[in-house]
Amino acid sequence: MSLEVEFCGIRFPNPFIVASSPPTTTGEMIARAFAAGWGGAVIKTVAPEGEVIENVAPRFAAMKADRKRIVGFENIELISERPLSIWEKECRILKDRYPDRVLIGSCMAGGADKAGWQELVVRLEDAGCDMVELNLGCPHGMPERGMGSVCSQNPEITGAITRWVKEVARKPFLVKLSPNVTEITVPGRAAARNGARALSAINTVNVLLGVDIDRFEPLPSVAGKTTYGGYSGAAVRPIALKAVSDLARHLPDVAISGVGGIATWRDAVEFLLSGAATVQVCTEVMLRGFGIIGPLQRGLERYMAEHGFERVSDLVGLALPRITDHSKLDFDHKPKAVIDASACIRCDKCYTACEDAAYQAIELPHPRMAPVKARGVPIVHLELCTGCSLCQHVCPVDCIKLQEVAGAPGEVKGSLGLSLGPDATYPGAARWDRPGGASGAPSIPAATSGDRLAANA
Ligand SMILES: Cc1cc2nc3c(=O)[nH]c(=O)nc-3n(C[C@H](O)[C@H](O)[C@H](O)COP(=O)(O)O)c2cc1C
Ligand code: SF4
Ligand code: SF4
Repeated sequence: MSLEVEFCGIRFPNPFIVASSPPTTTGEMIARAFAAGWGGAVIKTVAPEGEVIENVAPRFAAMKADRKRIVGFENIELISERPLSIWEKECRILKDRYPDRVLIGSCMAGGADKAGWQELVVRLEDAGCDMVELNLGCPHGMPERGMGSVCSQNPEITGAITRWVKEVARKPFLVKLSPNVTEITVPGRAAARNGARALSAINTVNVLLGVDIDRFEPLPSVAGKTTYGGYSGAAVRPIALKAVSDLARHLPDVAISGVGGIATWRDAVEFLLSGAATVQVCTEVMLRGFGIIGPLQRGLERYMAEHGFERVSDLVGLALPRITDHSKLDFDHKPKAVIDASACIRCDKCYTACEDAAYQAIELPHPRMAPVKARGVPIVHLELCTGCSLCQHVCPVDCIKLQEVAGAPGEVKGSLGLSLGPDATYPGAARWDRPGGASGAPSIPAATSGDRLAANA
């Protein structure tokens, strides 16, 4: 078994790449990433000679779960402040010292600057970069100068830049796309039609992270003011997975480098299964350092061994045939919520969720707000449960499973002994006849019920 991958004809020792980002601010940092084991690295995006790049401070803001763990990260950082000439020197040193690692240049110029794009790509290739990534995705600062995300938000500009680069490139290049579009396949197709063999998705998602409610200052506050920035980290992973899978499904001949919210080997596997052939990481390296490459590699190796995969390419895109139109999903699949009574901690969260946001299919065998010691395990009325899964997601101990229940009724049959009208088969119809149901007063179910269809295991 091997973690080696081939991407556009280039051999990577493993599929893990440090994305163009603060961890690739200098050649020395990239050298440490390579020494730690990363298969490749994309240099921080470099601008045409003479373009002044100056950063503000602070330029980061974080979204935390429970005020602790960072789940989303906003930046208003610009591209590399260092000139192309410095990067040329450092790329040569890096290639000299780490010939087996894949060094990817990164650049951006204006949407009408053909000469700028061509010079950047040629000089990065000449400096030894194995590939070059065209950054058409940065959503802040650079768009005001006609660069960054505005270039992949307009498919004509995306196509033109790809064409210009194709004219001069002697090595493979990737077009890095912005997720801040309605359909990422539109710029993806424009790049592919004009000669791109590889795409990177995604760059950051344009957001306003938050507002300091005591100072009335949007964040990150730069001396009291902010600008919309780029969101990254775990929170953007679903957006990136959608983008990667969409591109892979519609452009099967294009290689995709997946990026956005990858923190663990599991996340990386999700991207590979969704069609990415390599994966890039930025925010997680910012938060935990280059050392995460060890667990990433070991986890992927273990996963491949467990599933009998010989090569990383064996798992690329395996989940794609299972993504389809909503109308093509199986409407006969009717699982029901089943509670594992032995694991239930009687928190009643499933009841509240089902009662106030689903189909009123869960009944409490005790009065609402009863002391925990006096509570029983909630009861699922199979004939009312539509299998929506909300209760499963709110259960803090993961003791609700959605499963087919043999003999479960598929529709409301009036088993609660209620006088159901002609709408009886619609979920929720029975509630109008329940005590308190129509009046809006909270209903307090009886402690026992002779005709209930409990699904509790
Ligand atoms: C602080 C910061 C700076 C970034 N700078 C660049 C850049 O110069 N060029 C680029 O192509 N992407 C840049 N990115 C975007 C990342 O390469 C990556 O596409 C994005 O952050 C999503 O991946 P992640 O969730 O692993 O961070 C930057 C991201 C962050 C957080
Ligand atoms: S799956 Fe939906 S309808 Fe069924 S019990 Fe749970 S929340 Fe209620
Ligand atoms: S949410 Fe889970 S633990 Fe809480 S009462 Fe429901 S089944 Fe039990």
